[in-house]
Amino acid sequence: MTGTEGLPMTVRAPGLPPRVRIHEVGPRDGLQNEKSVVPVEVKAEFIRRLAAAGLTTVEATSFVHPKWVPQLADAEQLFPMVGDLPGVRLPVLVPNDRGLDRALGLGAREIAVFASATESFAKANLNRTVDEALAMFAPVVTRAVEHGLRVRGYLSMCFGDPWEGPVPVEQVVTVCRRLIDMGCDELSLGDTIGVATAGHVRALLTALHDSGVASSRIAVHFHDTYGQALANTLAALQCGVSTVDASAGGLGGCPYAKSATGNLATEDLVWMLDGLGIETGVDLGRLTATSVWMAEQLGRPSPSRTVRALSHKE
Ligand code: HMG
Ligand code: MG
Repeated sequence: MTGTEGLPMTVRAPGLPPRVRIHEVGPRDGLQNEKSVVPVEVKAEFIRRLAAAGLTTVEATSFVHPKWVPQLADAEQLFPMVGDLPGVRLPVLVPNDRGLDRALGLGAREIAVFASATESFAKANLNRTVDEALAMFAPVVTRAVEHGLRVRGYLSMCFGDPWEGPVPVEQVVTVCRRLIDMGCDELSLGDTIGVATAGHVRALLTALHDSGVASSRIAVHFHDTYGQALANTLAALQCGVSTVDASAGGLGGCPYAKSATGNLATEDLVWMLDGLGIETGVDLGRLTATSVWMAEQLGRPSPSRTVRALSHKE
């Protein structure tokens, strides 16, 4: 049973934050794995529609090597098309000095470096060991901070890795601490292949808290491979996290982790948060319409349960 006009009934629960900032990753994480190149005008329109739906952080693109992620080779064209959206933060992924030069040249105000908790994924995603990747990021973070940029540090494979299996919590905390010590403002904990369950999330967040990382600096980034993304998000909110990554329509995967399926769908997240009376600023109807439109552009339906339920209502 729904509340009014395609919204859930609101029933608050104790021990949760009053507001959640959604870090929308659809245009970057959602699209990076698409085989056929999405026209740059469609990407720009996607970002504009997401902003119009009330998302205030929209990860726009990556300044990586175009051979590694051909879908995002148009970053130079795309960023100026959306760079002046009022009140919207537009972080971009930057792996190295070359990427930072490109981002600074276009006036980006926020970047993300992307480390791995495991050696296998560091090699697959960055052609580096974990140490080499962190050594590559250190000068990037320093220079970005000198330019007054906000810096996020992603950490992939925080729970399990397709080559190495379960990832020990201490291993993750060690790399998290190195990213924080390097100068990252925020950490995004990636369950890149979607294998986490709620107790594991709680264990990692508790260990991070014990290592001195405040929950206000932590974001969670769940994939829904085994249908656990929302349960894991709720566990994280109960641990004091109030920044959640999600991808409109559940788009996504990762080109260098074959078993990764879609990210947590932003609509599924907003449905849960609306139901809990947690403020996000997002208009679920407009967001759903955006994902239905994007699904038409991509030629296949959105995997989001909420998008399907709401778009089949009429
Ligand atoms: P490499 O081959 O080791 O690069 O790749 P290199 O440093 O040896 O340089 C080789 C050539 O690339 C040089 O050109 C450089 O100038 C050029 P050449 O002299 O041969 O003509 N180059 C660049 N060109 C444009 N932009 C750049 C750049 N850097 C070097 N920034 C590299 C190393 C890091 C570049 C490569 O591995 C790469 O681009 N990786 C990115 C992969 C990627 O974007 N993966 C997806 C994002 S991470 C993710 O999805 C996980 C996340 O979503 C969270 C989660 O779900 O867990 C964040
Ligand atoms: Mg992801």
